[in-house]
Amino acid sequence: MNLSPFRQVLEKKCGLIFPNEKAAILEAGIRNRMDACAVTSPVEYLFLLTADRWEFGRLIDLLTINETYFLREPVHFTLLARRIVPELLTGKEPGKKLKILSAGCSTGEEAYSVVISLAERFGRDFLGGVSVFGGDIDTTVIAGARQGVFGKRSFREFPEHLLEKYFEPCRDGLFRIRDWLRDAVEFIPLNLLEAEYPPALGDSDVIFYRNVSIYFSPEVRNEIFTRLAASLNQGGYLVVSPSETFCYNKGALSLTPLEGAFFYRKGVAGEKAPVRPASGRRVSPARKTVVAGTLLSPKLRPPLADGRREGRSPAERDETVRSCVPAAPPPSAGAPASFEQALGLATAKEYQAALELLDRLTENRAEAARAHTLRGGILLNLSRPDEARAACLAALEADGFSLEATLCLGILARLQGDGTETLRRFREAVYLRPSCWPAHYYLGESYLEQGEAGLARREYEVILKLLKKGDFSSHGISFMPLSFTQAQLETLCRRRLLPMKGTSNGN
Ligand SMILES: C[S@@+](CC[C@H](N)C(=O)[O-])C[C@H]1O[C@@H](n2cnc3c(N)ncnc32)[C@H](O)[C@@H]1O
Repeated sequence: MNLSPFRQVLEKKCGLIFPNEKAAILEAGIRNRMDACAVTSPVEYLFLLTADRWEFGRLIDLLTINETYFLREPVHFTLLARRIVPELLTGKEPGKKLKILSAGCSTGEEAYSVVISLAERFGRDFLGGVSVFGGDIDTTVIAGARQGVFGKRSFREFPEHLLEKYFEPCRDGLFRIRDWLRDAVEFIPLNLLEAEYPPALGDSDVIFYRNVSIYFSPEVRNEIFTRLAASLNQGGYLVVSPSETFCYNKGALSLTPLEGAFFYRKGVAGEKAPVRPASGRRVSPARKTVVAGTLLSPKLRPPLADGRREGRSPAERDETVRSCVPAAPPPSAGAPASFEQALGLATAKEYQAALELLDRLTENRAEAARAHTLRGGILLNLSRPDEARAACLAALEADGFSLEATLCLGILARLQGDGTETLRRFREAVYLRPSCWPAHYYLGESYLEQGEAGLARREYEVILKLLKKGDFSSHGISFMPLSFTQAQLETLCRRRLLPMKGTSNGN
C-alpha cells in the first residue's frame, strides 16, 4: 500500500508522524478502518478520510497507540454495572469474588472506569467483593496507571460531578484518583501474545479487550481472542470496541446483543433475530402514517410539532444528502444485474422491475446485504411489512453490520406498534454508527411515543451536538435517500426540545 498520502494527511491534520518503523501500525490501522467501512481501495478510503471528520477521528483513535480515557464507550460501563455484574453475581459461589480484567489497559482509565461504575451503582463497600486487574505490555503505562494521576484529556467524556466525587486535584491541573479506588485495581505486566497468562488472570468473569487488536494481524488477533476466551469462566463476557466487534472468529464465544450493544459471551447461545416482534406499546394511528414509505423518504418525514410536514425549497433539496443514482431502464432478463440499476429503478418508483432485479442480485454473495436491504425498503414502501421484515433480516444474515437494514427494521417495528423492538433496533443502529443522526432521531421519536421524554431529549441533544461538530454527513447511510436538510433537522430537534426544558435526560 502506498502510505505517503496517508502520512501527509495525518501529519498535516494532527501532527502525527509515522516513520518507517511504524509503517506496519499505520497500514494495519488503515486496513482495519477500510474493513469497517467496507472500502476495498486505499484511494477510496483516503477520499473518505479527508471528507469525513468522524472517520478521521476513528482512524486517529486506532493510531494513537496508548490512547485511552475514562468511560470510553460509556454504554459498556453502564451495562456492566446495571446488567452484567448483577447477573454474574447470581451464579457466583458464595465467598468467591467476581474477577474483571482490563487487557491492554494503557494508563489505567479503563480499569478505573470499571471500579468507578461499580462504586457509583453499588457503593464503595461493593468493591471488596470484586477483583479488578489491569494488564498491559507497556510497563511505562502500567507505572503511570499505578500512580493514578491524570490530565484533562483523560476526562474528555467524564461527567463533572464524578470528577469531584472520585478524584482530588493535585499539581499542575492534574487529578489523582482517590486512594480507596486506586487500591481496588491491581496493575500487572501482561503480554497478550505470550503462551501463558499470569495465573491471577485465569477464571475471569469479564474481560475488557478494547482497542488493542490494532497491533495484530488477523491470525494473531484470532489467536489472542481464543486465549482470552479460554481465560473466561462459563457465562463470562468479553467486551470489545464497536469497531472490533465483528473482526473475530467467534470460536467458543457467541455474540450477544444487550440493549443495543454487542458482547461476546462464553457458553451462552447468541440471540437470534426474532421471527415475530415481541409485544410492546402500540403507536397511535397518526404516527403510523409517519413511517409508511421508503426509509426516510419524503413520505417518511416526521411531522412538525404542529402536525404539518416540513416543505423543502429547491435550494434545500440540493443541500439534502442523497446518494441515489438516476433511474436506469430495466435490464433484459438474463442480462447481468447491477445494484445501481436496481437502485435507479427504485428511485424512479419502478418497484416491480427493481424487485425482479434484486431477486437476481440477492444470489450474489457480495451484493446480498445491500440487495436484501433495498428489497426491504421497497416492500416497506409497497406496504408489505412482513416481506419487508424478512428481507431486512436476510440482509442482517448477510451482513450483521448493515446499518440500513437495522434502521429499516426499527421503522417497520414502529409501524407495527412494537415498542420494544423499535427501541432495540434504533439503539442497535446508534451503536453501529454513533454519528447516525437518523437513528438518533427515530430513537428520540420512539422514546417520545413511549412516554420517555427524558431519554428522547438526550437523543435530540446528541443530534444537535453532531451538527455542531459538522457531522451532518457522517450518518453512515450509503444508499437510502435521506430527506432532511441540515437546517430542517436542526429546527425539528430544537422544536422537540422546547417543551422538554427541565426534564431529566436519563443520565
Ligand atoms: C489504544 S490502548 C487501549 C486502552 C484501553 N483498552 C481503551 O480501550 O481505552 C492499546 C493498549 O494495548 C497495549 N498492547 C498492545 N499490544 C499488547 C500486547 N501484546 N499485550 C498487552 N497489551 C498490549 C498497548 O500498550 C496500549 O496501551
